[in-house]
Amino acid sequence: MDKLIITGGRALSGEIRISGSKNSGLPILAATLLADEPVHICNLPHLNDITTMLTLLRCMGVGVTIDERMCVEVDASLINDFTAPYELVKTMRASILVLGPMLSRFGVANVSFPGGCAIGSRPVDIHLRGLEAMGAEIEVDGGYIRARSNGRLKGAHIFMDTVTVGGTENLLMAAALAQGTTILENAAREPEVVDLANFLVAMGAQIEGIGSDTLTIHGVERLTGCTYPVMPDRIETGTFLTAAAAARGRVLLKDTDQHMLEAVLLKLEEAGAFINTGKDWIELDMKGNRPKAVNLKTAPYPAFPTDMQSQFTAMNAVAEGTGTVIETIFENRLIQIHELNRMGASIKLEGNTAIVTGVERLKGAPVMASDLRASASLVIAGLVADGETVVDRIYHIDRGYECIEEKLQLLGANIRRVPS
Ligand code: EPZ
Repeated sequence: MDKLIITGGRALSGEIRISGSKNSGLPILAATLLADEPVHICNLPHLNDITTMLTLLRCMGVGVTIDERMCVEVDASLINDFTAPYELVKTMRASILVLGPMLSRFGVANVSFPGGCAIGSRPVDIHLRGLEAMGAEIEVDGGYIRARSNGRLKGAHIFMDTVTVGGTENLLMAAALAQGTTILENAAREPEVVDLANFLVAMGAQIEGIGSDTLTIHGVERLTGCTYPVMPDRIETGTFLTAAAAARGRVLLKDTDQHMLEAVLLKLEEAGAFINTGKDWIELDMKGNRPKAVNLKTAPYPAFPTDMQSQFTAMNAVAEGTGTVIETIFENRLIQIHELNRMGASIKLEGNTAIVTGVERLKGAPVMASDLRASASLVIAGLVADGETVVDRIYHIDRGYECIEEKLQLLGANIRRVPS
């Protein structure tokens, strides 16, 4: 397994381009199963989870052609196998997102039951109950979700008990080709859900309330091909901004959008960052100052995103003062604090709250990544620690960040990848 070797102490400075969004690209690639013509998806990030989703589509017989700029042509009419196998689903639980579109377009879907992961149990009960409300017959057998529908799914009025991004996306995709109207209440409003809805509309879907917590979908008979660029990655954007804030630097991020992470930008300004924005760029300048500790509580969009929690925990670890970090979405998403404490951080865990008292400098150490965003927090910690930090198991990072060490090198970081 590759490792990242980081020698900390440099302020980040420079400019980089933000890649397309992983969490928008994944549902959009799943949604291509709904079209009965080839679909072109552009601005996909070149990272492992996207490759896994393309592999999953291919293993079902779907036509997938990739050009050198990671624009992908998908032709679902070639599908010949309606099974998402355990071998792939166990490496990426977002494979569950093929369930809704495959069932709605083809009347059948067998998807390996996604297990939990380091951050939580990650149930899919809301996905399954919603599809049953639309007329699907679902059984779980031998570790697989086996779903069938007699003819087209039927529109239904569905209230989701918990705000779920994946649940909203699966049911939104299924409803696009259902017979009649579906209302999804308490729907997730994340920008990635909006991007998926806009993609479905580009293929001919009829959706009202995009961006709100109530989506009304009037099912249509068929969806056509289109060309669609996925939105910029707001979590990659937030990660690099937070790294620059922790490292007291100044960065310019291009090909991004300030409107998809307003809660994060406000928190960074609270930490003492000076932020300028333009149509497709964001600049952060700490003017060489140490960040101030901030309090935050994760919650569904437009509140502070859980995917930015561990990065801010790392920034708080070297900030002036004490900040509390409350994680309300996943039951085990504060695990990175143990590795941060091994680097000299002063973090106390009380239930779902981390109380972070900033220290002037962390100390480099060998650390181990446990999940995607926790890995990012360890990289940020390594950038601001004295001495050398070795981050092991960085396959977690490669799932969600495109060329992270190259981008950090462009910002002046002393970081390199070594095969282990
Ligand atoms: C998506 O995961 C993202 N992944 C996650 O990003 C992100 O952290 C999460 O949304 C929350 O914003 C992708 O988009 C591929 P949820 P998802 O369903 O859809 C509970 C990253 O780092 N729940 O919104 O799996 C669940 O237990 C990843 O890029 C049910 O109870 O998250 C959790 O407590 C990590 N029943 C809460 O909802 C269900 O049927 C939110 O989960 C579904 C979810």
